[in-house]
Amino acid sequence: MLSNWLKESRYTVVLTGAGMSTESGLPDFRSAGKGMWTKEDPSKIASTEALNRNVERFFEFYRHRVLGLKDCRPHKGHELLAKWEKKGVIKSIITQNVDGFHGKAGSENVLELHGTLQRVHCQTCGKEYGNETYAEERFHCDCGGKLRPSVVLFGEMLPEDALMRAAEESEKADLFIVLGSSLTVTPANQFPLIAKQNGAKLVIVNMEPTEFDIYADLVINNRKIGEVLQEADKNLSRKK
Ligand code: APR
Repeated sequence: MLSNWLKESRYTVVLTGAGMSTESGLPDFRSAGKGMWTKEDPSKIASTEALNRNVERFFEFYRHRVLGLKDCRPHKGHELLAKWEKKGVIKSIITQNVDGFHGKAGSENVLELHGTLQRVHCQTCGKEYGNETYAEERFHCDCGGKLRPSVVLFGEMLPEDALMRAAEESEKADLFIVLGSSLTVTPANQFPLIAKQNGAKLVIVNMEPTEFDIYADLVINNRKIGEVLQEADKNLSRKK
């Protein structure tokens, strides 16, 4: 069914969450028993509060994530989305992920709602650095200010431009596919609804059920995203 809809669609938009990268070896946030936020309180380590009042733990937490990124890479699912973009099967990816894996896999029209862990910048002067600074335990700018990952921290606003473009893409979609998100965080979880309200078919591919499944035209639980995308790709090429 998914490959049929992909074939018939004029404008497919994909929204990805951390479940898109678990098959690359990166943990997600809320999977029962293993998600990062099942073990840590994000407001204590991934917030502006933590950056200002718990900075050693903040640096340690994000250095650990940067090192984790360096050991992992995009998987087949990321590569298929990049291939589908080149073939015009999908038009854009709205991602909540900060791993940069869609770009690394070759996707070009990627809207990073929550910023990126590939770069850090100075909290004081704004100067940007690569994330190797964190890997090398360099946490301060040449100006002396604190370096922080270029991600949206809890308590911060999302980048206006990415938000606006994501809303535009969602309104244009006639097929909107969610891959690997619990859809618990706003405003990212509003885009499937915007698409639906504008007449799109909504597909949710997620290991566990989400509160938005009731709005979906197709829900695929208990299957890995990589498998679902490879199966759809096989059917797509078969139907040529
Ligand atoms: N295949 C399919 N689904 C998967 C897979 C997989 N291989 N691995 C994990 N999942 C599902 C989990 O069941 C889970 O419901 O992906 C979902 C990921 O949900 P979250 O961990 O909540 O991640 P996400 O929705 O991206 O979180 C949104 O919260 O903390 C903030 O900024 C953070 O961007 C993040 C936002």
